[in-house]
Amino acid sequence: MLSYNYYGHACCQIDDGKDKILIDPYFTGNPAASVKESEVDATYVLVTHAHGDHIGDVVSVVVRTDATAITIPEILDLAGDGAKTIGMNLGGTVKTSFGFVRMVPALHSSGVPGGVACGYVINVGGKNIYFAGDTALFGDMKLIGERDKIDYAILPIGGHYTMDPVDAAKAVEFLGAENVIPIHYNTWDIIKQDPEEFAKLVKNAKVHIVKPGESIELI
Ligand code: NI
Ligand code: MN
Repeated sequence: MLSYNYYGHACCQIDDGKDKILIDPYFTGNPAASVKESEVDATYVLVTHAHGDHIGDVVSVVVRTDATAITIPEILDLAGDGAKTIGMNLGGTVKTSFGFVRMVPALHSSGVPGGVACGYVINVGGKNIYFAGDTALFGDMKLIGERDKIDYAILPIGGHYTMDPVDAAKAVEFLGAENVIPIHYNTWDIIKQDPEEFAKLVKNAKVHIVKPGESIELI
């Protein structure tokens, strides 16, 4: 069993039945949030960058659940003492109890001095899941797909701050992803998009439109 639980905006959890990998834990103040911070469990928390709609509730989640936080060192410095943390950087791979986490580039600002924005390739349950984070389209997404066969790509489509549906459809092609899940849209009017229109633009991959509060099995 490998499930994708979507909590709204860019916040999701991947659960292999043992580990719960929470990504970009933004609940408080998230207009799209389907749950409260206090209702979510995690064994790992991954953060892509330090903008408020991604770093969100990371400190309270990590303290409450005793999860291990994984992100760049500049963000871990904000997390405070006592938290279980793994600092890593672009190009690095960390073995975990569920598989591995590889930190990959994202083309976006970091929200913290000296930091970089990142994405992740998460190997869990025998699948490779690419969580792009906030990013523009970039050609080296091809290299991400060459290194790891991408079973699921979780991509922003909202535009304005990130890729829009046209560029995200191109990203799917660069990655060679088999499945794609759009995120980071319709939280606010400024990133309003029609995911069905995105689905029409995607060639050679299955698009899974998941609403906040919904879950799907990753197969
Ligand atoms: Ni951002
Ligand atoms: Mn964002």
